Amino acid sequence: VIADGLSFRLSEEHLEVQRAAREFAQRELLPGVIERDTHQIFPAEQIKKMGELGFMGMMVDPKYGGGGMDTISYVLAMEEISKIDASASVCMSVNNSLVCWGLEKYGTEEQKQKYLVPLAKGEKIGAFCLSEPEAGSDATSQRTTAEDKGDYYLLNGTKNWITNGSSASTYIVIAQTHPEKGHRGINALIVEKGMEGFTIGKKEDKMGIRGSDTHSLMFTDVKVPKENRIGEDGFGFKFAMETLNGGRIGIAAQALGIAAGAYELALQYSKERKAFGRPICELQAIQFKLAEMYAKIEAARLLVYKAAYLKDIGEDYALAAATAKLYASEVAMWVTTEAVQIHGGYGYVKEYHVERLMRDAKITQIYEGTSEIQKIVIARNILK
Ligand code: CAA
Ligand code: FAD
Repeated sequence: VIADGLSFRLSEEHLEVQRAAREFAQRELLPGVIERDTHQIFPAEQIKKMGELGFMGMMVDPKYGGGGMDTISYVLAMEEISKIDASASVCMSVNNSLVCWGLEKYGTEEQKQKYLVPLAKGEKIGAFCLSEPEAGSDATSQRTTAEDKGDYYLLNGTKNWITNGSSASTYIVIAQTHPEKGHRGINALIVEKGMEGFTIGKKEDKMGIRGSDTHSLMFTDVKVPKENRIGEDGFGFKFAMETLNGGRIGIAAQALGIAAGAYELALQYSKERKAFGRPICELQAIQFKLAEMYAKIEAARLLVYKAAYLKDIGEDYALAAATAKLYASEVAMWVTTEAVQIHGGYGYVKEYHVERLMRDAKITQIYEGTSEIQKIVIARNILK
């Protein structure tokens, strides 16, 4: 986008990705989205199709089954999918940014062949397991243990809130091996569904992203082969933080999409709905809401693009990613609330989509680091 100086222009290739994602979302995601939300149905078929279209491993090198695209393409696709179905887009975001990225960057050749290839092709789904009942924001306080037993790790503990919890096949699990070393004793292990002692707990009944399957996971004496550790012994926490830097760009793009989706619906509705003998878009009160929505969304979009761009050119993007996520998620919450307001009573019922977008927006302020945690990350960066 901004690759040649500050052109603010999308390339033909980027526009093509955007178009493909938009068409897919309209054709395949929109028709059942209300029903999936109501009944908490995971969009399994739709995710399979997204895999076939290359949306599940967009940035992975084609030699490992991915699309070989840049991060800008990824955020464009995330925005379009999220306008319609944030449950599908969180699955996409986790698979791309939290699972494929780390495997490609830090995995061994064997790990890439065995695990990355099917994930990048979208034949399998991945999950990223950091949070625990008592370690959410305070992520270094890992209680899950990975005891070193020579040629394997003995994994014990519980993970909470795991996206793709039951639909995934490959799980990256963060666990403590050397408690005396604090966060430098933590490891990241690849765990397969079906390993003895690995059980999937209850599915959460959520406010939003209800089509996404969020589960707790239990590990009881699970033997994880040593060759399934990612990186050096003790690299697990750094691995998780670096992974989340990229993940936060994906969630910022999701928040942007939710906001943009609600704005587009509100804009359209304001032209159709009449009150006091004229369309409500002629009322200045409504125009000001629309203008403010537009301005905030534009600002969020630039922050998202900037973070993606910095990642693409190989510069440090932790600060930009946290800034984009903080701002875009606040915009998503504000814009969706105003979109419901513009719809009046109709905004409060499912048929008009904006109430779902408002419920979906809320999670973007919580996962992959709450807004408060993003402020900590930003403050530490600007003060250092
Ligand atoms: N990038 C790279 N490294 C980072 C980092 C970042 N953004 N943030 C922290 N680190 C590194 C630090 O450099 C430090 O490393 P060294 O000591 O080895 O140099 C190490 O991590 C520990 O950092 P701190 O000393 O700052 O630790 P802290 O406990 O004071 O704070 C934190 C850490 C930033 C609050 C961190 O715990 C955090 O990010 N918490 C939020 C957790 C989170 O985002 N969870 C998301 C789960 S996944 C998810 O949610 C998926 C989904 O919904 C779809
Ligand atoms: P807490 O950490 O207990 O926070 C409670 C409140 O205190 C928050 O407002 C928080 O901002 C505030 N707070 C905490 N510490 C500070 C501080 N130092 N300064 C200021 N305020 C602070 N996790 C995964 O690992 N993988 C996933 O796939 C995943 N998917 C998720 C999907 C959903 C739908 C949900 C709800 C969560 C998911 N999570 C996942 C977990 C998510 O990342 C955590 O919920 C989040 O990091 C917050 O942790 P917590 O819920 O324990 O809240």
